[in-house]
Amino acid sequence: MKLPDLATDLARQFQRIYGRPPRWFVAAPGRVNVIGEHTDYNDGFVLPMAIERYCVMAADISRTSQNISIHDEQVGEKAVIDISKPVEKGNPKWSNYVRGVIAGFQNRGVKIPALDVLMLSTVPLGGGLSSSAALEVCTATLLESATGKKMDPVEKALLCQKAEHEFAGVPCGIMDQFISVMGKSNHLLLLDCRTRETKLVPVNDPSVELLIANTNVRHELGSGEYAVRRSQCEEAAKILGVASLRDATAEMLEQKKSAMSDIVFRRARHVIGENERTVSAAEGVRNSNWPTVGQLMYASHRSLRDDYEVSCKELDAVVEIAESIGEQGGVYGCRMTGGGFGGCAVALVKSNAIDAISKKLATEYRQKTGIEAAIFVSRPAAGATVLKS
Ligand code: GLA
Repeated sequence: MKLPDLATDLARQFQRIYGRPPRWFVAAPGRVNVIGEHTDYNDGFVLPMAIERYCVMAADISRTSQNISIHDEQVGEKAVIDISKPVEKGNPKWSNYVRGVIAGFQNRGVKIPALDVLMLSTVPLGGGLSSSAALEVCTATLLESATGKKMDPVEKALLCQKAEHEFAGVPCGIMDQFISVMGKSNHLLLLDCRTRETKLVPVNDPSVELLIANTNVRHELGSGEYAVRRSQCEEAAKILGVASLRDATAEMLEQKKSAMSDIVFRRARHVIGENERTVSAAEGVRNSNWPTVGQLMYASHRSLRDDYEVSCKELDAVVEIAESIGEQGGVYGCRMTGGGFGGCAVALVKSNAIDAISKKLATEYRQKTGIEAAIFVSRPAAGATVLKS
């Protein structure tokens, strides 16, 4: 559903539930990372785009309570958050993303009003498309409107990342929150995670699209393994004598090979290679050099599968099918995207072959795994938006 239609729908429901129209209406998108995986927490480069899937919130000042009450339309659940004292973790579990952001505003001394909020998200949950970052950034955008405290985009993204660290216990990097805040339609965002410098990379060629295939699997080991990868990278950086793997080169790594375990060596090799691939891919996108970008995506996938070991058989199946379709059939490249262990793959495809590719991917994926994939195309979308203030 397009954003204006979502807004109309949610406004109608708000009116039905609360008997008045919402005063504020905000949205924040999910994301797909085109390339640059597991590089953000190594001070490296990432190249994500916001997608046309959103967390949306309609809200008004509460007339009956001193709380922020958030009603999740889809799951039919309500989170009631007492804002008269410092907000802490609580239930339901998803409310922690919201709680963390409210706490971030409280810590800055911002006075927050009691609110009635109705929310809806079209970002698939747990699909590696940053549904949690969309929820955090949407909350922050609503609080900006409701409190009048407009934040600098970098500060806003960092506040949301902190919410994820402290309230959801996920030691994520900065990519997801940055792109949900700063995405721009028809552009990818090349983000230098060390300097936080961003460069918009236009995607103006109508002959290509990004296709997202959700494997519809999520392996529980995901979050624990994420933290393990982080510490392996830190170990590698320490042995190499650099502040982070961003500063390491393939030659430096080769020289110290005997000083580290094979696992740590391979983790570092992925990160070093991935940073180079990401910068090259951004250049490729700028020049509409799609075959090159596609090959870099395949190389990224192999590295994530073999060296970083964060893929899974379902993601590998999608990439293998994509590769078998090949450029002849309209696929330039494909790779897993996001943290891994399930979730989505992203493919760079020719626009005129989307239907045939989607059909073949769905059929062969079902044959190989017995699972239905969810496949869709998204143009690069705008970041957090205030639809009504
Ligand atoms: C998750 C994290 C991001 C990033 C990716 C891997 O999505 O939230 O910060 O580390 O994994 O690239």
